[in-house]
Amino acid sequence: MYVLALVTQKGGSGKSTLAVGLAVAGMETNERVAFVEADPQGTISKWKERRGRPYPRVDRVADPAEIERALSRLEAEGIWLAIVDTAATSNALAMHAIARADLCLIPARPSPADIEAAIPTIIAIRRLKRRFAFVLNQTPPRGCRLTEAATSLNSLGVLALPYVGQRNDHQDALGAGLGVTEFAHEGRASEEIRELWRWVLKKLVEGSFDHEQHANRVAG
Ligand SMILES: Nc1ncnc2c1ncn2[C@@H]1O[C@H](COP(=O)(O)OP(=O)(O)OP(=O)(O)O)[C@@H](O)[C@H]1O
Ligand SMILES: [Mg+2]
Repeated sequence: MYVLALVTQKGGSGKSTLAVGLAVAGMETNERVAFVEADPQGTISKWKERRGRPYPRVDRVADPAEIERALSRLEAEGIWLAIVDTAATSNALAMHAIARADLCLIPARPSPADIEAAIPTIIAIRRLKRRFAFVLNQTPPRGCRLTEAATSLNSLGVLALPYVGQRNDHQDALGAGLGVTEFAHEGRASEEIRELWRWVLKKLVEGSFDHEQHANRVAG
């Protein structure tokens, strides 16, 4: 089972919105996707209440031991991808989500405040030796702020592609209990999320391949 965590202590950068978009896009590949919601704010479980469909399922957790139990249960049930949505704090829950993740995604809007706020998260991820990528979210169509933000994020680590534009479809999909790819199947927002999902999946697969190679080297 792959574990993907959305983390950054900057509030409103798009962790939950991207988590929902990617989960539903991921379900187009394989339906067995689940959420672990490590945020008392409950954005994902409220979305799920509006959704009125059984999948993806959402397990809420309130402490690190519960994350562990939830992930073990999901793996035993044959879940293929668990997405952990975290709160905008660097609490023990977020740290545990990072420690368990095959890949951490750090959403940032193209503003210095979002990029600066991500730094403690990057330090924690590096300390825990996890893999991560930034996702530039809520981007304007063009402009120098965008280029500057992309340059700073590239200097700090890997920047996922494509950037995710500021589009109402993301907000409307969240309100309707849908993923953006369900809400506006052919829209630009859906195209970007599907493409981002393919990028993320490639990184997840590459990561597990590296891990296997390493295990074989150690064993051999
Ligand atoms: N690409 C986007 N286009 C338009 N609106 C967006 C986009 N991404 C996020 N939003 C909106 O921005 C707001 C904040 O997003 P979201 O709740 O996903 O952030 P968050 O990082 O999970 O916040 P928190 O830290 O409070 O959990 C929401 O209203 C969401 O719909
Ligand atoms: Mg959130």
